[in-house]
Amino acid sequence: MPEPRLVIASNRGPAQFEREPGGERVVQRGGGGLVTALTGLVAHRGALWVASAMTDEDVAVAREAEGTPVAIELDDVSYEVLLVESDARAYDRFYNVIANPILWFIQHYLWDLSNAPDIRQEEADAWDEGYLIVNRDIATAVLKSIEGDPEPLVMLHDYHLYTCPTLIREARPDAFLQHFVHIPWSQPDSWRILPVRMREQIYRGLLANDIIGFHTTAYCRNFLDCCRELLEVEVDYRRGAVLHSGRETWVRAYPLGIDAKRLDRAAASEEVAAYERELLRRRRDHLIIRVDRADLSKNVLRGFTSFDVFLQQHPEFRERVTFIAHLQPSRQDVAEYQEYLERIEALVAVVNHRHGTTDWMPIDLRIYENFPEAVARYKHFDLLMVNSIFDGMNLVAKEAPAVNTRDGVVMLSENTGSHEELGDCTLTVNPFDIQEQADTIHRALTMDPEERALRAGRLREIVRERDPGVWISEQIDDIRAKRDAGAAALRER
Ligand code: G6P
Repeated sequence: MPEPRLVIASNRGPAQFEREPGGERVVQRGGGGLVTALTGLVAHRGALWVASAMTDEDVAVAREAEGTPVAIELDDVSYEVLLVESDARAYDRFYNVIANPILWFIQHYLWDLSNAPDIRQEEADAWDEGYLIVNRDIATAVLKSIEGDPEPLVMLHDYHLYTCPTLIREARPDAFLQHFVHIPWSQPDSWRILPVRMREQIYRGLLANDIIGFHTTAYCRNFLDCCRELLEVEVDYRRGAVLHSGRETWVRAYPLGIDAKRLDRAAASEEVAAYERELLRRRRDHLIIRVDRADLSKNVLRGFTSFDVFLQQHPEFRERVTFIAHLQPSRQDVAEYQEYLERIEALVAVVNHRHGTTDWMPIDLRIYENFPEAVARYKHFDLLMVNSIFDGMNLVAKEAPAVNTRDGVVMLSENTGSHEELGDCTLTVNPFDIQEQADTIHRALTMDPEERALRAGRLREIVRERDPGVWISEQIDDIRAKRDAGAAALRER
C-alpha cells in the first residue's frame, strides 16, 4: 500500500533564514527536540512542512515565495517548507506571552504560584489576538496545502498549535489529524491556572485530532485524567481513548529515539576530532558535562549547587574534576529566561571563586550552540548530568551515552521522559534533592570500572535500539489502524 502524503505543521521549522552583515542570506538549522524529531521524520519518508516564519529573513522568504513551499537543503536532508507569516504583534504575543512562558511553565510545573502567573487583560488579549491568530494562520496554510487531497494526513506538533486542529477539522471533517506533544503533559490541577475558556479551547482543539501522541505512558495517563476531570468526558483507560461528541481520540505513547547514524558520522568527523584534542589537552582526572538549552526546566542552578556541595564535602576532588556546562541560549525575549541566564552566570562565578585556584576553574560555562563541540564532550564524559525539573524526553540523555568512549555514568532525573526507558542503568535523582545529587556525583566518580562498563553497555544497547524511523513507523501503523477501524465502523452502519 503506498504511504499517504503527509503534511506536518509546527511553529519552528527545520531552519531559520538570517541575513549576514555583508548582505548574504544564510540558512541555519533550527534547534531543540522537536526539530530533531521531525528532521528524522522528513529524512525517513518526506513531507510538506508548514511552519511559522520566525525571523525577519523568514518573513522575507515567505513573501517572495507567495504562499508556495520553498526547498531547503541542510545536512544532506531536503525539506519542502511552507513558511507562514503572521502579524508581527500577534506572533510576539503568541510566542512570548502564551506559548513561552504560560503553556511551557504549566506543562513543566515551573510556576511559583504565590507570585505568578497573573492573568490580566494583557494575557487574555494575547490569547485572542496572538495565540488564536497564529493557530488560525497555520490552519489556513495547512488547509490550502491539502486542498484536493482525497485522504489528507496532517501531523501537528507541540504546544504552539493546540487550537489549530479545531479549525482544520471544521473545514475538512475527512482529514486524519494526529498531534504529537513533545513536552510533558502535566496533571489536572496544574491546568486550573488557565481561565476556563482558554483551557476548554485547548482541550477541544486537541480532541479534534484522531490520535494524540506523547513520549511516555505517564503523560498519556495525565492527559486522560485531565479529560475526565476538567472536561468531564468519557475516558477509556484500557484502550487509551477519549470518547466525545460521537467521536473517539486515541491517546498513545511513542518514545522518540535518537539518530545514531547521524551521531556516529558526527563523532567520526575531523571537526569533532579537533574539539576532542582541545578537550583532552585540558582534561583533569574526571570530566562532568551537561548540555542543555538554557531553560528553567533544565534545573541548571541546582545542578551547580550540588557540584558546589560535592566539592565542599569531598575536598580530595579539588583540582581533579572539571564540570563543563554547555548551554544554548533560548527564548531571550522572555524575561524569566533572561533572568535565569543571569542567575546561572552569577552562581558559576560564586562556585568558581569559592573553590577555584590559579590554574583550575571548577565550572567551565559555555553559553552558545555548537553541535560538534557538544559531540566531542559526549565522547569523553565520566558523568553526564541530566537533572531536569520536568522534561518531555531529554534526548541528551540518549545521545551522549550512545557515543561515549569512557563508560561514562549518567545521572538522570526521575522526571524526564527518558527515565521511563533508561532508569535501570542510570543513577536516578530527585531533581530537588541537592544532597542526593552531590552524593550521586561522588558515587559516579568513584564507581568501580566493572559497574561502569555494565551500566554503560546496557545504556548503549537501549539508546541504539530505537531510531526515529521506529518512532514514525509506530505512529503510521496506528494511523492506519485507526483509519481502518473508522472505515469498518462506517460499513457497519
Ligand atoms: C524544546 C522542546 C520542544 C519545543 C521546543 C521549542 O526543544 O523539546 O518540544 O517545541 O523546545 O523551542 P523553541 O526554541 O522553538 O521555542
